[in-house]
Amino acid sequence: TWSVEGLAEKLVEQVRSQIPREDKAIVAVSGGVDSTTAAVIAKRALGDRAVVVFINHGLLREGEAEEVLSALKSLGLNPIYIDASDRFLRALKGVTDPEQKRLVVGKVFAEVFKEVATSDSSIRWLVQGTTYPDVIESGAEAGADRIKSHHNVGGLPRDLGLRVIEPLRYLYKDEVRRLALSLGIPESIAMRHPFPGPGLAVRVIGEVTEEKLRIARRASMIVEEELRRAGLYNSVWQAFAVVGDDKWVGVKGDRRAFGYIVTVRVVESEDGMTADWARLPYDLLQRIASRITSEVPEVVMVTYAVTTKPPSTIEPV
Ligand code: XMP
Repeated sequence: TWSVEGLAEKLVEQVRSQIPREDKAIVAVSGGVDSTTAAVIAKRALGDRAVVVFINHGLLREGEAEEVLSALKSLGLNPIYIDASDRFLRALKGVTDPEQKRLVVGKVFAEVFKEVATSDSSIRWLVQGTTYPDVIESGAEAGADRIKSHHNVGGLPRDLGLRVIEPLRYLYKDEVRRLALSLGIPESIAMRHPFPGPGLAVRVIGEVTEEKLRIARRASMIVEEELRRAGLYNSVWQAFAVVGDDKWVGVKGDRRAFGYIVTVRVVESEDGMTADWARLPYDLLQRIASRITSEVPEVVMVTYAVTTKPPSTIEPV
C-alpha cells in the first residue's frame, strides 16, 4: 500500500522544482476536494507565489460560498474572492441547450479568470486539480468519446500563455481524498461529493431561472441533510435534486396546486464513469419527499431516478 504522507511531500517538491523562483502560479479553487488539495500543495510549494482564486458563479449550493470561504481561510489559503453571480446568470438567460449552457459558463468563467490572471505579469503558471478520471472523461486521451464537455479553464491557459501543472493527474478520487486528509484538509471538504463545474446550471433542466435555482438549491439541501442524518452521506457518490419545467397537479391545504416535479438522484460509483442508483430505504425516501413538498412550496411531486449510468448519465444536463 502506498503512503499518502510520502506522496504529499513528493508532489509539493515537484511543484516547487518546476516553477522558477520569480514566477507566480494561479490556482482556481471551487472548494471541492480536488481543487482544494491542489491549492494546498501549491501553497506549500510556493507560499505567497500561489495566487488562490475562488469565483462564485451564482450556481452554488445553499450556503456553499460562505462555507468554502471559511474552510479555505482556515487552511491559510486566503483566496481572492470574486462574486460574479450576476454576470453568469445574465449570460445564461434564455439558454436551454445542455452543451450551450456548459459553453456559456465556461466562457464567462474564462473571462473572469482572465481578468485576474492578467492583473499580475509574474503569473505564468496555472495549477489545476485535474484527476485521472477527468483526463479520461473529457476525451483528453486518444480515441476517447466526448460525452459532455466538462467545464474547466479549457483553452484558456494557452490563450493566456500560462503553463499548466496538474499535480493530481494520476490519482483517483479515493486517493485524492486520502491525500487531502493527510494534508490536514477537514473531512467536510475531503469527503465532499463531487460537484460539477457549471454547478446548478446542469441540475436545472431547460432555462436557468431564479425560481428553478431556488428549488434545486433547497431540495438538494434536504436530500444531503437527510442522507447525513441517516449516516449514508459518505457511502454514496452523489446525492442531489433536479428540477425542469414539467409540472404536476396537486392538492396543498385543500387547494389545487400546479407545481414543479423534482427528481432526486442518489448514485453509487467508483469514479463517476459508471454509476448505480442507491437502494435507499423507503422510509428515507419518504422523509425526503415529504420534506421537499412541504418546505419547497413550488413543488408538488418528487420522483426518484432509478436508471444506471449507462444508459443515463449522472447529471441531467
Ligand atoms: P455525468 O453526468 O457525465 O457526470 O455522468 C460524471 C461525473 O462528472 C461530473 N460532471 C462534471 N464535473 N464539470 C465537472 O467538473 C462538468 O461539466 C461536469 N459534468 C458532470 C458529475 O457530477 C459526475 O460526478
